[in-house]
Amino acid sequence: MQIKSATFVISNTDVSRCPNEPLPEYAFIGRSNVGKSSLINMLTERKSLAKTSGRPGKTQLINHFKINGNWFLVDLPGYGYARVSKTAKSKFQKFITSYFSQRKQLVSAFILIDIRHSPQAIDMEFMQWLGENQIPFSIVFTKADKLKPKAIERNIQAYLQAMLDDLWEETPNYFVTSSSNGTGREELLDYIDQINKQ
Ligand code: GTP
Ligand code: MG
Repeated sequence: MQIKSATFVISNTDVSRCPNEPLPEYAFIGRSNVGKSSLINMLTERKSLAKTSGRPGKTQLINHFKINGNWFLVDLPGYGYARVSKTAKSKFQKFITSYFSQRKQLVSAFILIDIRHSPQAIDMEFMQWLGENQIPFSIVFTKADKLKPKAIERNIQAYLQAMLDDLWEETPNYFVTSSSNGTGREELLDYIDQINKQ
C-alpha cells in the first residue's frame, strides 16, 4: 500500500470524543518505549508525525492519525514501566480499557513487543484480556535491527511457546519490524490493506 497522506486528527483521553467517522482503525499498544510512535512514523514515512522519545511515557493520549483519507492509525500510551505517577498510570489504564472495549471502529490491535525481551507477564496479561474481550490482534516485534536473525528467530519461538504455555490454542499473526531500517513496513501495510479491502 502506498501512503499518500497521513495527518494528525485529534488527541484525547475520552473514547466518546474520538472521530465518529465509520472508518476502519488499527491501534498500537504495548509497553512504554517499545516503539509504538516510531512505528507510526516508519509506516507513514513521516519523521515526526507521532511524538517519540528515549524516555518511557512520552505518549499520554489517544492519538488518531488519518491515513489516505480512509482509515486510522491510533497511537496510545504505553503500559508498564513509564516513569509517570501512579495516578497517571491508572488514568491511562482506564481510558485504554474503555478505548478497546468501546471503540466500534477498531478492526484490529497490534501488540508491540521488543524483540530483545523474554516474554513479560504484563504483555501476556494484556493479550489474555484482549482474547477474553474478543478483540482481534496481531503481534508486532519491534527493534529487529538490534538482534541478529538467529536471535530474532529464537526469541519469536520463545514468545509463541510462552503463549501456548499460557493456554492459547493457537498463536496470532506476527510481524518483525524495525523503525530504524524499515524492516516489516510492506508486510504490515499490505496486511492492513487486505483487511481494509474485505
Ligand atoms: P511511549 O509513548 O513512551 O509509550 O513509547 P513508544 O512505545 O511510543 O516508543 P517510541 O516510539 O517513543 O520509541 C522509544 C525509543 O525507542 C526511542 O528512543 C526510539 O528511537 C527507539 N526505537 C523505536 N523503534 C526502534 C527501532 O525499531 N529500532 C531502534 N534501534 N530503536 C527504536
Ligand atoms: Mg509513544
